Amino acid sequence: MIQRPRGTRDFLPDEMERRRHYESVLRDTAETFGFREVQTPIFEEAELFILRSGPNILNELYAFKDKGDRDLALRPEMTASAMRMFVNGMSNEPRPIKMFYFGQCFRYERPQSGRYREFFQFGAELIGNANPETDAEVIAMAAALIASLGLEGYRIRIGHIGVLRQKLSQAGVPSERTAEVLQRLDKKMYDEAESMMRGCGVSDEQIAEVFRLTETVGGKEVLSEVPGEAGEYLSRVVDILEAMGVADIEVDLGVVRGLDYYTGMVFEAEAPSLGAEKQICGGGSYTLSELFGGEKVFSTGFAIGFDRILLALENEGRTHSPRGLDAYVVTASEDLRLKASSIVSELRGNGIRADIDLMGRKMSKAMKHAASSGARYAVILGTRELETDSVTVRDLSTGEQELVGIPDLVSRMKDHL
Ligand code: HAM
Repeated sequence: MIQRPRGTRDFLPDEMERRRHYESVLRDTAETFGFREVQTPIFEEAELFILRSGPNILNELYAFKDKGDRDLALRPEMTASAMRMFVNGMSNEPRPIKMFYFGQCFRYERPQSGRYREFFQFGAELIGNANPETDAEVIAMAAALIASLGLEGYRIRIGHIGVLRQKLSQAGVPSERTAEVLQRLDKKMYDEAESMMRGCGVSDEQIAEVFRLTETVGGKEVLSEVPGEAGEYLSRVVDILEAMGVADIEVDLGVVRGLDYYTGMVFEAEAPSLGAEKQICGGGSYTLSELFGGEKVFSTGFAIGFDRILLALENEGRTHSPRGLDAYVVTASEDLRLKASSIVSELRGNGIRADIDLMGRKMSKAMKHAASSGARYAVILGTRELETDSVTVRDLSTGEQELVGIPDLVSRMKDHL
């Protein structure tokens, strides 16, 4: 038997219906913020990701050569693609440009609960100005998306990568080593980060200062300890968020992010019920377009890990009942089959989810099958009923039934549903 590749999943109909439901909730919420959906290819020139996504992503890239000897890669995330798309064909559009996307990404990681090699992101990018209003708008949307799914146990932390980068540079970490140190800090590998800094000649005192900065955590008041303009900037972001009704945002200068392109505000959301892979959303402000041959523009964005947020909802006991069929058409004998086909077709043509037996089941078995398939009503055609151009409509949960004239069937069914 051929198995699916490691780190991938199949989604059976019930699960798929649940996923589509939550996907559409996210789409509707994003649209209330004035964002519009875009789609980019699942594979890109490998260089697009190599240019700036940072060492984490590169080790995890599914890269390959095509038959024309081109170096391609499956996308590990969608921000680089969105910015390439902006440079290719959207740079003349009025700003801000607000776009969102949903789709699968691929990372060659060690699979475990909440971590897959093929996973889905729901993300957004706002191309506009580098200002607190823009950053607040994007964080507010991320918060609204998470809340719109009904998730309760989560927290959002915001930080500023610029402050940390500056501190590392002042401490003597050369710019080409910054990404590696940040990567260790992001993965909470503090011992490795320390020995790397030591290798760059950073003093004990400076190392202690770097760690002190990453431990700056709390409410808005801790921002007074943040050096430079970043503290004031983040305070403004938090004020705007409060005005937008987004409370409970924690400040955490230890938010580092694994990707290499962030320049300013960074944020993450986590759902503690998920354990090790608890990060359900990550984002921040960055510039990327200039690397892809475009003008330099300021952007802020984020991506929600769709699979993880669904796991978190499951942990909170949120289930989604499949809608199922509205009607199952059953015939008392084979010679009524043509009439049944025309009735099922009429129901479907009017938007009613209807089905009919295709397995040659006799009436009693077909009725059982209708009930177990989750259909709400059985529409029964019998010789006697047909004499009066009628069918019997039976509610499969209560067993109640009524005789309905065939010309009235569609409107009667719509009354019921
Ligand atoms: P990221 O933090 O690498 O950011 O990924 C975003 C989210 O995708 C994570 O918070 C996590 O929930 C989910 N995720 C990542 N890897 C996996 C995996 N192997 N299995 C399941 N879920 C996963 C980005 O990708 C940025 N592009 C976000 C962004 C957009 N920044 C600015 N704009």
